[in-house]
Amino acid sequence: MEAVQFIQSKIENFIPEIGLILGSGLGFFADQIDKQAVVPYNQIPTFPESTVEGHKGNLVFGTVHNKNILCMQGRFHYYEGYSIEQVTKPIRTMHQLGIKTLILTNAAGGINDQFEPGDLMVIKDHINMMGTNPLIGSNDNNLGPRFPDMSTAYNKDIRQQARDTASKLNLKIHEGVYLAATGPSYETPAEIQFYKAIGADAVGMSTVPEVLVARHAGIRVGAISCITNKAAGLSDKPLSHEEVTQTANKVKEHFAGLISELIAKI
Ligand code: HPA
Repeated sequence: MEAVQFIQSKIENFIPEIGLILGSGLGFFADQIDKQAVVPYNQIPTFPESTVEGHKGNLVFGTVHNKNILCMQGRFHYYEGYSIEQVTKPIRTMHQLGIKTLILTNAAGGINDQFEPGDLMVIKDHINMMGTNPLIGSNDNNLGPRFPDMSTAYNKDIRQQARDTASKLNLKIHEGVYLAATGPSYETPAEIQFYKAIGADAVGMSTVPEVLVARHAGIRVGAISCITNKAAGLSDKPLSHEEVTQTANKVKEHFAGLISELIAKI
Protein backbone atom coordinates (compact mmCIF):
# COMPACT_ATOMS: atom_id res chain seq x y z
CA MET A 1 0.00 0.00 0.00
CA GLU A 2 2.94 2.30 0.66
CA ALA A 3 4.08 1.89 -2.95
CA VAL A 4 0.53 2.32 -4.26
CA GLN A 5 -0.06 5.50 -2.28
CA PHE A 6 3.25 6.97 -3.42
CA ILE A 7 2.48 6.20 -7.07
CA GLN A 8 -1.05 7.57 -6.80
CA SER A 9 0.36 10.84 -5.49
CA LYS A 10 2.37 11.09 -8.74
CA ILE A 11 -0.38 10.16 -11.20
CA GLU A 12 -3.30 12.06 -9.69
CA ASN A 13 -6.58 10.64 -11.00
CA PHE A 14 -5.15 8.53 -13.80
CA ILE A 15 -6.52 4.97 -13.68
CA PRO A 16 -4.58 2.48 -15.80
CA GLU A 17 -6.60 -0.23 -17.52
CA ILE A 18 -3.88 -2.27 -19.24
CA GLY A 19 -0.50 -3.18 -17.76
CA LEU A 20 2.43 -3.80 -20.05
CA ILE A 21 5.77 -5.37 -19.16
CA LEU A 22 8.52 -4.58 -21.63
CA GLY A 23 11.20 -7.24 -21.90
CA SER A 24 14.72 -7.11 -23.36
CA GLY A 25 15.06 -4.59 -26.17
CA LEU A 26 11.47 -3.36 -26.00
CA GLY A 27 12.04 -0.59 -23.46
CA PHE A 28 11.84 1.99 -26.24
CA PHE A 29 8.12 1.23 -26.65
CA ALA A 30 7.66 3.65 -23.76
CA ASP A 31 8.54 6.42 -26.26
CA GLN A 32 5.30 5.68 -28.10
CA ILE A 33 3.20 6.36 -25.04
CA ASP A 34 1.47 9.68 -24.70
CA LYS A 35 2.89 10.14 -21.23
CA GLN A 36 1.07 11.28 -18.15
CA ALA A 37 3.77 10.42 -15.61
CA VAL A 38 7.06 8.54 -15.33
CA VAL A 39 7.91 7.10 -11.92
CA PRO A 40 11.41 5.58 -11.53
CA TYR A 41 11.42 2.32 -9.56
CA ASN A 42 14.17 3.63 -7.30
CA GLN A 43 11.87 6.40 -6.04
CA ILE A 44 9.04 4.05 -5.12
CA PRO A 45 9.15 3.01 -1.46
CA THR A 46 9.50 -0.79 -0.95
CA PHE A 47 10.25 -1.37 -4.69
CA PRO A 48 13.40 -3.29 -5.69
CA GLU A 49 15.87 -1.71 -8.13
CA SER A 50 16.67 -3.08 -11.62
CA THR A 51 20.30 -4.18 -12.12
CA VAL A 52 20.53 -5.68 -15.63
CA GLU A 53 22.22 -3.85 -18.47
CA GLY A 54 19.77 -2.61 -21.07
CA HIS A 55 16.81 -2.66 -18.70
CA LYS A 56 15.48 0.69 -17.65
CA GLY A 57 13.58 0.92 -14.42
CA ASN A 58 10.47 3.08 -14.76
CA LEU A 59 6.75 2.86 -14.42
CA VAL A 60 5.36 4.83 -17.35
CA PHE A 61 1.74 5.99 -17.25
CA GLY A 62 -0.08 7.30 -20.30
CA THR A 63 -2.20 6.44 -23.29
CA VAL A 64 -1.75 4.36 -26.44
CA HIS A 65 -4.69 4.43 -28.90
CA ASN A 66 -6.71 6.18 -26.20
CA LYS A 67 -6.26 3.31 -23.75
CA ASN A 68 -4.89 4.10 -20.32
CA ILE A 69 -1.82 2.01 -19.79
CA LEU A 70 0.76 1.43 -17.10
CA CYS A 71 3.99 0.23 -18.54
CA MET A 72 6.87 -1.41 -16.71
CA GLN A 73 9.97 -0.29 -18.56
CA GLY A 74 12.24 -3.05 -17.28
CA ARG A 75 11.40 -5.90 -14.94
CA PHE A 76 12.95 -7.71 -11.98
CA HIS A 77 14.44 -11.12 -12.66
CA TYR A 78 14.84 -13.92 -10.14
CA TYR A 79 18.45 -14.45 -11.30
CA GLU A 80 19.33 -10.94 -10.18
CA GLY A 81 19.00 -12.18 -6.62
CA TYR A 82 15.60 -10.72 -5.80
CA SER A 83 13.20 -12.89 -3.85
CA ILE A 84 10.31 -14.27 -5.90
CA GLU A 85 8.04 -11.88 -3.93
CA GLN A 86 10.15 -8.92 -5.03
CA VAL A 87 10.09 -10.12 -8.64
CA THR A 88 6.28 -10.07 -8.61
CA LYS A 89 5.66 -7.11 -6.34
CA PRO A 90 4.98 -4.76 -9.28
CA ILE A 91 2.12 -7.03 -10.40
CA ARG A 92 0.37 -6.65 -7.05
CA THR A 93 0.99 -2.91 -7.28
CA MET A 94 -0.44 -2.77 -10.81
CA HIS A 95 -3.49 -4.67 -9.60
CA GLN A 96 -4.04 -2.22 -6.74
CA LEU A 97 -3.70 0.64 -9.22
CA GLY A 98 -6.58 -0.79 -11.23
CA ILE A 99 -5.27 -2.77 -14.21
CA LYS A 100 -7.61 -5.45 -15.55
CA THR A 101 -5.38 -6.82 -18.32
CA LEU A 102 -1.64 -7.50 -18.39
CA ILE A 103 0.45 -7.92 -21.53
CA LEU A 104 3.92 -9.36 -20.98
CA THR A 105 6.80 -9.49 -23.41
CA ASN A 106 10.13 -11.26 -23.20
CA ALA A 107 13.09 -12.61 -25.12
CA ALA A 108 13.30 -16.38 -25.38
CA GLY A 109 15.39 -19.13 -26.92
CA GLY A 110 13.60 -21.15 -29.60
CA ILE A 111 13.27 -24.88 -28.93
CA ASN A 112 10.67 -25.72 -31.59
CA ASP A 113 12.42 -26.61 -34.89
CA GLN A 114 10.11 -24.28 -36.80
CA PHE A 115 11.27 -21.22 -34.89
CA GLU A 116 13.90 -18.87 -36.31
CA PRO A 117 15.60 -15.98 -34.51
CA GLY A 118 13.47 -12.88 -35.01
CA ASP A 119 10.14 -14.78 -34.99
CA LEU A 120 7.49 -13.95 -32.45
CA MET A 121 5.55 -16.45 -30.33
CA VAL A 122 2.23 -15.95 -28.60
CA ILE A 123 2.42 -17.86 -25.32
CA LYS A 124 -0.44 -20.33 -25.03
CA ASP A 125 0.72 -22.04 -21.85
CA HIS A 126 3.77 -22.33 -19.64
CA ILE A 127 5.94 -24.79 -17.74
CA ASN A 128 7.38 -23.52 -14.49
CA MET A 129 10.89 -24.94 -14.02
CA MET A 130 12.01 -22.21 -11.64
CA GLY A 131 11.57 -24.49 -8.66
CA THR A 132 9.56 -21.89 -6.80
CA ASN A 133 6.21 -20.14 -6.91
CA PRO A 134 5.48 -16.55 -5.83
CA LEU A 135 2.19 -17.68 -4.26
CA ILE A 136 3.95 -19.83 -1.65
CA GLY A 137 3.20 -18.57 1.85
CA SER A 138 0.07 -17.51 3.66
CA ASN A 139 -2.70 -16.59 1.25
CA ASP A 140 -4.60 -13.32 1.44
CA ASN A 141 -8.08 -14.41 0.38
CA ASN A 142 -8.87 -10.81 -0.54
CA LEU A 143 -6.20 -10.99 -3.23
CA GLY A 144 -7.16 -14.34 -4.70
CA PRO A 145 -7.80 -18.03 -3.96
CA ARG A 146 -5.36 -20.35 -2.16
CA PHE A 147 -5.28 -22.74 -5.13
CA PRO A 148 -5.70 -20.65 -8.27
CA ASP A 149 -6.60 -22.39 -11.53
CA MET A 150 -3.98 -22.15 -14.30
CA SER A 151 -5.82 -24.14 -16.97
CA THR A 152 -6.57 -20.99 -18.99
CA ALA A 153 -3.80 -18.70 -17.79
CA TYR A 154 -3.25 -17.09 -21.20
CA ASN A 155 -6.48 -15.48 -22.35
CA LYS A 156 -7.90 -17.05 -25.52
CA ASP A 157 -9.31 -13.81 -26.95
CA ILE A 158 -6.02 -11.96 -26.48
CA ARG A 159 -4.13 -14.84 -28.11
CA GLN A 160 -6.48 -14.73 -31.09
CA GLN A 161 -6.20 -10.94 -31.35
CA ALA A 162 -2.40 -11.18 -31.22
CA ARG A 163 -2.32 -13.74 -34.03
CA ASP A 164 -4.82 -11.79 -36.17
CA THR A 165 -2.95 -8.53 -35.63
CA ALA A 166 0.38 -10.15 -36.49
CA SER A 167 -0.93 -11.57 -39.75
CA LYS A 168 -2.48 -8.20 -40.63
CA LEU A 169 0.97 -6.65 -40.09
CA ASN A 170 2.65 -9.48 -42.08
CA LEU A 171 4.66 -10.64 -39.08
CA LYS A 172 5.68 -14.24 -38.65
CA ILE A 173 4.06 -15.44 -35.47
CA HIS A 174 3.79 -18.81 -33.77
CA GLU A 175 1.92 -20.00 -30.75
CA GLY A 176 3.59 -22.19 -28.17
CA VAL A 177 4.55 -23.20 -24.67
CA TYR A 178 7.04 -21.04 -22.76
CA LEU A 179 9.25 -22.71 -20.20
CA ALA A 180 10.76 -20.60 -17.44
CA ALA A 181 14.14 -21.53 -15.96
CA THR A 182 15.92 -19.41 -13.34
CA GLY A 183 19.07 -18.65 -15.35
CA PRO A 184 21.35 -16.79 -15.31
CA SER A 185 23.34 -19.49 -17.12
CA TYR A 186 21.81 -20.49 -20.42
CA GLU A 187 20.65 -24.10 -20.64
CA THR A 188 22.77 -27.10 -21.55
CA PRO A 189 21.91 -28.96 -24.78
CA ALA A 190 20.73 -31.89 -22.61
CA GLU A 191 18.37 -29.61 -20.70
CA ILE A 192 16.98 -28.30 -23.98
CA GLN A 193 16.33 -31.87 -25.19
CA PHE A 194 14.51 -32.52 -21.90
CA TYR A 195 12.46 -29.32 -22.22
CA LYS A 196 11.59 -30.23 -25.80
CA ALA A 197 10.46 -33.70 -24.71
CA ILE A 198 8.15 -32.27 -22.06
CA GLY A 199 6.47 -29.90 -24.51
CA ALA A 200 8.31 -26.59 -24.41
CA ASP A 201 8.59 -24.48 -27.58
CA ALA A 202 10.67 -21.69 -26.10
CA VAL A 203 12.71 -21.05 -22.96
CA GLY A 204 13.36 -17.91 -20.96
CA MET A 205 14.08 -16.53 -17.52
CA SER A 206 11.02 -14.42 -16.71
CA THR A 207 7.27 -14.01 -17.18
CA VAL A 208 5.99 -17.11 -15.36
CA PRO A 209 6.18 -15.69 -11.79
CA GLU A 210 4.44 -12.52 -12.97
CA VAL A 211 1.72 -14.50 -14.73
CA LEU A 212 1.10 -16.63 -11.63
CA VAL A 213 0.55 -13.54 -9.48
CA ALA A 214 -1.57 -11.81 -12.13
CA ARG A 215 -3.85 -14.82 -12.59
CA HIS A 216 -4.14 -15.25 -8.82
CA ALA A 217 -5.50 -11.68 -8.76
CA GLY A 218 -7.91 -12.40 -11.64
CA ILE A 219 -6.07 -10.20 -14.15
CA ARG A 220 -6.48 -11.16 -17.84
CA VAL A 221 -3.10 -12.14 -19.27
CA GLY A 222 -1.54 -12.15 -22.72
CA ALA A 223 2.16 -12.75 -23.41
CA ILE A 224 4.43 -12.63 -26.45
CA SER A 225 8.01 -13.84 -26.78
CA CYS A 226 10.58 -12.61 -29.22
CA ILE A 227 12.60 -15.66 -30.25
CA THR A 228 16.08 -14.19 -30.15
CA ASN A 229 18.18 -17.30 -30.70
CA LYS A 230 18.03 -21.03 -31.22
CA ALA A 231 18.23 -22.70 -27.80
CA ALA A 232 21.45 -24.40 -26.66
CA GLY A 233 22.64 -27.25 -28.87
CA LEU A 234 20.20 -26.45 -31.69
CA SER A 235 22.72 -24.42 -33.68
CA ASP A 236 26.52 -24.37 -33.94
CA LYS A 237 26.73 -20.93 -32.40
CA PRO A 238 27.51 -20.44 -28.70
CA LEU A 239 24.77 -18.51 -26.86
CA SER A 240 25.41 -14.95 -25.83
CA HIS A 241 23.54 -12.02 -24.37
CA GLU A 242 24.83 -10.01 -27.36
CA GLU A 243 22.97 -12.25 -29.80
CA VAL A 244 19.84 -11.95 -27.69
CA THR A 245 19.95 -8.14 -27.60
CA GLN A 246 20.97 -7.89 -31.28
CA THR A 247 18.00 -9.97 -32.47
CA ALA A 248 15.64 -8.19 -30.08
CA ASN A 249 16.86 -4.87 -31.50
CA LYS A 250 16.39 -6.02 -35.09
CA VAL A 251 12.72 -6.83 -34.64
CA LYS A 252 11.82 -4.27 -32.02
CA GLU A 253 9.94 -1.96 -34.42
CA HIS A 254 7.75 -4.82 -35.62
CA PHE A 255 7.26 -6.13 -32.12
CA ALA A 256 6.31 -2.66 -30.86
CA GLY A 257 3.88 -2.26 -33.78
CA LEU A 258 2.18 -5.49 -32.81
CA ILE A 259 1.92 -4.50 -29.13
CA SER A 260 0.53 -1.10 -30.04
CA GLU A 261 -2.16 -2.57 -32.34
CA LEU A 262 -2.98 -5.22 -29.78
CA ILE A 263 -3.56 -2.59 -27.10
CA ALA A 264 -6.00 -0.86 -29.42
CA LYS A 265 -8.02 -4.06 -29.82
CA ILE A 266 -8.20 -5.61 -26.37
N1 HPA B 1 17.53 -19.37 -22.81
C1 HPA B 1 17.02 -18.73 -21.74
N2 HPA B 1 16.63 -17.48 -21.77
C2 HPA B 1 16.75 -16.81 -22.94
C3 HPA B 1 17.28 -17.41 -24.09
C4 HPA B 1 17.69 -18.77 -24.02
O1 HPA B 1 18.18 -19.38 -24.99
N3 HPA B 1 17.27 -16.48 -25.08
C5 HPA B 1 16.72 -15.35 -24.53
N4 HPA B 1 16.42 -15.55 -23.24
